[in-house]
Amino acid sequence: MQKRILLSSPHMSGHEQTYIEQAFNSNWITTLGPNVSAFEHELADYDQIGSALATSSGTAAIHLALLVLGVKPGDSVFCSSFTFVASANPALYIGAELTFIDSDPASWNMSPQALERALASAKKTGRLPKAIIVVDLFGQSADMAALTKIANAYHVPIIEDAAESLGASYHGKKSGTLATIGIHSFNGNKIITTSGGGCLVTDQPEYREQALFLATQAKEARDYYHHETLGYNYRLSNVAAGIDRGQLKVLDQRVARRREIFANYQYALADTAVDFQPELADTYGSRWLTTLTLQHHDPWQLMAMLAQHGIESRALWQPLHRQPLFKNATFFGHTPDQDVSTALFKTGICLPSGSNLTADQQTQINQLLTDWLRRR
Ligand SMILES: Cc1ncc(COP(=O)(O)O)c(C=O)c1O
Repeated sequence: MQKRILLSSPHMSGHEQTYIEQAFNSNWITTLGPNVSAFEHELADYDQIGSALATSSGTAAIHLALLVLGVKPGDSVFCSSFTFVASANPALYIGAELTFIDSDPASWNMSPQALERALASAKKTGRLPKAIIVVDLFGQSADMAALTKIANAYHVPIIEDAAESLGASYHGKKSGTLATIGIHSFNGNKIITTSGGGCLVTDQPEYREQALFLATQAKEARDYYHHETLGYNYRLSNVAAGIDRGQLKVLDQRVARRREIFANYQYALADTAVDFQPELADTYGSRWLTTLTLQHHDPWQLMAMLAQHGIESRALWQPLHRQPLFKNATFFGHTPDQDVSTALFKTGICLPSGSNLTADQQTQINQLLTDWLRRR
């Protein structure tokens, strides 16, 4: 039977076993050890940022980022609406109130003009957010310069959710490093993986220190167990950090391959009625997933056709302001009567994009896509 073609599956480099063996041989199997520290340094070097903190997931890193920025129950937090639910859930863990900001058609990421309106409105009611979570979706950077300028005018810090965009860059700076705090994810479907894990990156040493304290059960510095603050068990294990070290070695190759896959789709579908996610000027996306919208075809019918051939594809993220979980949240559209993220969701699709996709597999997918799109 032909192997199923997956959207984005783990792709090992061959270097991982060395670090895992070191962890086993030295009996550093826990959430502390040489791989964790080395990985944090290697990642901070890669990102060209002051410090990194390895966490058990990207979600945990977002939770820690909100906590160190002082978000408390009842506070307001703004978040991109067009994203995976994990971007916003940590605000709910804290009991904060979410406001969702629509996408800009130019990037599919947070709309600067919607953010401006949302902040102006929050200022009027005296309820400015404590933090803004900006997501770099599918590996493409949001317009961080425009968003930062607006956020700075209101003195609100940004958390850059670069879970999907490790290895991408914006105006020459690595994705995740353009805000007060950034986060990455090493979940199984991401560009590199630890099997599960995440990371917080920041240039502020006190934020890393505070995040580390909260991630390790907030144990006070005494020679017995003493706790004054609610803490969490959010560190990455030394074994998982070993996998990450092996993966980090090939990150740039993985990004290059994903970009090549994107370019192949773009070339093959050039004469069809589709529009790919744009890449902003002076940015280098990781093209974690190749995503596109269909001008007049039904994406669910296309996904069903691909599934019949054993090919996994997915709908784009359903915007969070449409989710029953967030039914009480306020939403600011790109313009007062334009909901860009919903339009993207209703017409979009993610195509298989893993760096281990073979040339033959992609030729097969391209053939099916062009036949189907031209026939209708
Ligand atoms: C945009 C976004 N934010 C946050 C996360 C959470 O990362 P993790 O799965 O490592 O908790 C993910 C991925 O899963 C994501 O795609």
